[in-house]
Amino acid sequence: MHPLKRTPIKDLLHAKEFNIEVNVKGWVRTKRGNKSLAFINLNDGSIIHGIQVVAELANFDENIIKLITTGSCISVTGTLVQSQGQGQAVEIQAKNIEVYGTADAEVYPLQKKGHTLEFLREIAHLRPRTNTFGAVLRIRHAMSYAIHKYFNDNGFYNIHSPIITGSDAEGAGAMFRVTTLDAMNPPKTKEGGIDYAEDFFGKETNLTVSGQLEAELAALALTKVYTFGPTFRAENSNTARHLAEFWMIEPEVAFNDLNDNMDLAEDFLKYLINYALTHCMDDLEFLEKMYENELLSRLRFVVNENFERLHYTQAVEILKECGHPFEFPVDWGADLQSEHERYLVEKHFKRPVILTHYPKQIKAFYMKQSEDGKTVKAMDVLFPGIGEIIGGSQREEDHDKLLTRIREMGIHEKDVWWYLETRKYGTCPHAGFGLGFERLILFVTGMGNIRDVIPFPRTPKNAEF
Ligand code: 4AD
Ligand code: MG
Repeated sequence: MHPLKRTPIKDLLHAKEFNIEVNVKGWVRTKRGNKSLAFINLNDGSIIHGIQVVAELANFDENIIKLITTGSCISVTGTLVQSQGQGQAVEIQAKNIEVYGTADAEVYPLQKKGHTLEFLREIAHLRPRTNTFGAVLRIRHAMSYAIHKYFNDNGFYNIHSPIITGSDAEGAGAMFRVTTLDAMNPPKTKEGGIDYAEDFFGKETNLTVSGQLEAELAALALTKVYTFGPTFRAENSNTARHLAEFWMIEPEVAFNDLNDNMDLAEDFLKYLINYALTHCMDDLEFLEKMYENELLSRLRFVVNENFERLHYTQAVEILKECGHPFEFPVDWGADLQSEHERYLVEKHFKRPVILTHYPKQIKAFYMKQSEDGKTVKAMDVLFPGIGEIIGGSQREEDHDKLLTRIREMGIHEKDVWWYLETRKYGTCPHAGFGLGFERLILFVTGMGNIRDVIPFPRTPKNAEF
């Protein structure tokens, strides 16, 4: 007789057929019992719930039962039955148990329940085994899938933009260098600087901060494209909203203007949140119970309400007149701080807000200049509890205006000559934006810290796992 195939616990919990022989494999969450029976809660990550395994002690070697402790990994073969006990619909009456891996109860870090999220960050190699991280990782997967599905269903093509680049797309200057030069003894130029001509690529290269510039090249050929890749920023911001390595989704569409861009962003975000509400309910209910008691109503609210759209200038007026004691002053021309963004969203409008027409001096070189000469056709989407979740714009498609801006901002023309050429050959109006994937996951899961929505967070002084 060949061995039974493993069935995921998710399928067993939804079973319609009983009194059949099944096999499950997974990690023990708890074991309790009495003189004659052991009750084992087994989880395999296919779903947040575990399945109850009942072992009649008389049928098992005592030494095997002793090895079954919290955190151990076992394979169980037995009969799937409707449960007589409370709290679960089905259970397995075990006939045979094989122990794959033990977990010494004296030292296993997840022996007890109720660890703090801070502690779990220190054991990022084990935290996927908690209910919280299981839920977050399944939702993260579902959102990733829904993003590709949305774009595929709407005629977009996925473009793989490079991770190593020679350009600084955002002009923010906070980049991680990529080099094979000897750090102790790099080749020098005549002037005494480091000679990057000797480096692997024959020039200075960095990890990308954004796939936008490359997405634009593709949009000016395929019309509707998007990128979904890792991006890297060496900014030293130790906040609950910033990572040094995060994932970004960047759609770019030829012939779209700023209004089309806002429509796309709003439709896209609503689709994703609705997808989570339709496909991730078990995990969302768990997170609501554990962390944020208004999670589901907040998600439903965003799906059902229109986002407020207004100009930066109007927002500054509201913030100046509201009388709220902000830590940072509000002045036309300065970037809004997250306290300002959250005031607009959480206190004033009480809904997501799309701010547009920011002063050109606080935005990137590629944004389309407005007729007023002072602002650009930028848009930031601001979300409750998060602040900025999307940043984007209509792009400057006029070659001479773009070149003037590049020179004004001190960007080296030789680094972006290829970008400028798209404005020389067959240029057209186009627009796009970047959605921070982890900020989306923060919003959907209700988690409070961005370090808890990515498996292995990269933040200043932290790259252990
Ligand atoms: O506003 P940003 O910097 O825009 C861009 O990079 C454009 N190239 C996008 C485009 O138009 N194609 O970043 C976009 C989004 C932000 O709104 C935020 O959600 C997220 O990326 N983000 C970060 N997420 C986590 N950690 C960081 N350090 C982030 N920096 C930006
Ligand atoms: Mg931004």
